[in-house]
Amino acid sequence: MGKFSVFDCSIIELDRHHENRFGNLSVVENGKTLPFDVKRVYYLYDIPGGEGRGAHAHKNLEQLIVAASGSFTVTLDDGECKRSFFLNRPYQGLYVKPGLWRDLVDFSSGAVAMVLASDIYDKEDYIRDYQKFIEYKSIE
Ligand code: TYD
Repeated sequence: MGKFSVFDCSIIELDRHHENRFGNLSVVENGKTLPFDVKRVYYLYDIPGGEGRGAHAHKNLEQLIVAASGSFTVTLDDGECKRSFFLNRPYQGLYVKPGLWRDLVDFSSGAVAMVLASDIYDKEDYIRDYQKFIEYKSIE
């Protein structure tokens, strides 16, 4: 799959449509918006203040993480460097390459973390132990 670093990840700006209407509308289309096609969408919500999510890496999955409502911080870790992204706009998504540890923290009240993923759920794709992640990165 290749060895990606946190510097291969970035914020993708989504289209925002607001012509002749009140409010905004943002779009993600396969083959157009993202470097991958979307096979699954899930979202995290009702996260109590002070609690974190994530705390794992994916071997192959690519993702776009969007603060559909509210805000939170995503910290990516490639085993050598960490980079934190504050997400608080529904028209911005953090593109996450495979093979990176991620922690989601500091959820605001009412925050919704929407995740667009390149594949269906596969628990074999997860690395949930940080030490195993570091070992995986060294042989990846
Ligand atoms: P988990 O990946 O640990 O959530 P997060 O990384 O956001 O903290 O998933 C939590 C639970 O939900 C776990 O029991 C697996 C289940 N789950 C699915 O069944 N399908 C999915 O697509 C996802 C993402 C999770």
